[in-house]
Amino acid sequence: MAKFPVINLEKLNGERAVTMDLIKDACENWGFFEVLNHGIPYDFMDRVESLTKEHYKKCMEQRFKELVASKALEGLQAEVTDMDWESTFYLRHLPESNMAEIPDLTDEYRKVMKEFALKLEKLAEELLDLFCENLGLEKGYLKKAFYGAKGPTFGTKVSNYPPCPTPDKIKGLRAHTDAGGIILLFQDPQVGGLQVLKDGEWVDVPPLRHSIVINLGDQLEVITNGKYKSVEHRVIAQTDGARMSIASFYNPGSDAIIYPAPALVEKEEEEKKGLYPKFVFEDYMKLYAVLKFQAKEPRFEAMKAREATAPIVTA
Ligand SMILES: [Fe+2]
Repeated sequence: MAKFPVINLEKLNGERAVTMDLIKDACENWGFFEVLNHGIPYDFMDRVESLTKEHYKKCMEQRFKELVASKALEGLQAEVTDMDWESTFYLRHLPESNMAEIPDLTDEYRKVMKEFALKLEKLAEELLDLFCENLGLEKGYLKKAFYGAKGPTFGTKVSNYPPCPTPDKIKGLRAHTDAGGIILLFQDPQVGGLQVLKDGEWVDVPPLRHSIVINLGDQLEVITNGKYKSVEHRVIAQTDGARMSIASFYNPGSDAIIYPAPALVEKEEEEKKGLYPKFVFEDYMKLYAVLKFQAKEPRFEAMKAREATAPIVTA
């Protein structure tokens, strides 16, 4: 089985060319990789982890048990395909924070998650610039492509995957590709379960203390004209141990117009109208809301059909 790529970002100083090649290979062939020495202090990550687990125990665990009871998910006999075995809440940071409206968060947890979001935002933008360098795009191109009128949309989905007695009957999270831009995941250092589809096989994303897992969403596939791909992934529920997952989504602004970077489109392709559409990001998200657990190709097709009837003009 292929080994999941783990990249030490510290080696950008000293072994830059080799490290850039590792990033390029991961973007082109995996759509996923794990980074270490990413600039976010490890002791700070430990605080995020302990506060998240504390919050789950105190505010979420009982609610999840009640949900399981109300939906009769205990002792499943048949497979459930319209639900996931996960407990989640969502924090939005950009363009405006919703943190003040989220109930049950302690002041300390709120403060730490705000600081974590700022560090992740910086890391996302650094990674986007490394992608620009590998793609031969000017520095800042991807950040600008995501910007729209009010800057990117940035948010964090905090999830816990409690132990599940019947993991063969219900997924922690069903297979999907992510709709947005670049996703940064702080996953549980002990309890695994995340898998990525690679050449038709599901490959484990190994828990690795203090790493951040990076993956690419549908928007980067469109902007790179398919040079990079968003890749299907899923979470297998575990019979033992709860798995923490803090996934932060650095996405385009809702009004950003997304289309393949002209520098990455061959002339003949342009004449054939290419594979990827041009659209307003929020229109894509409306479609994704109903088609998340289906293949991305019909989403691209639907956007192309829409473009054919209502073309988007950009300078
Ligand atoms: Fe995802």
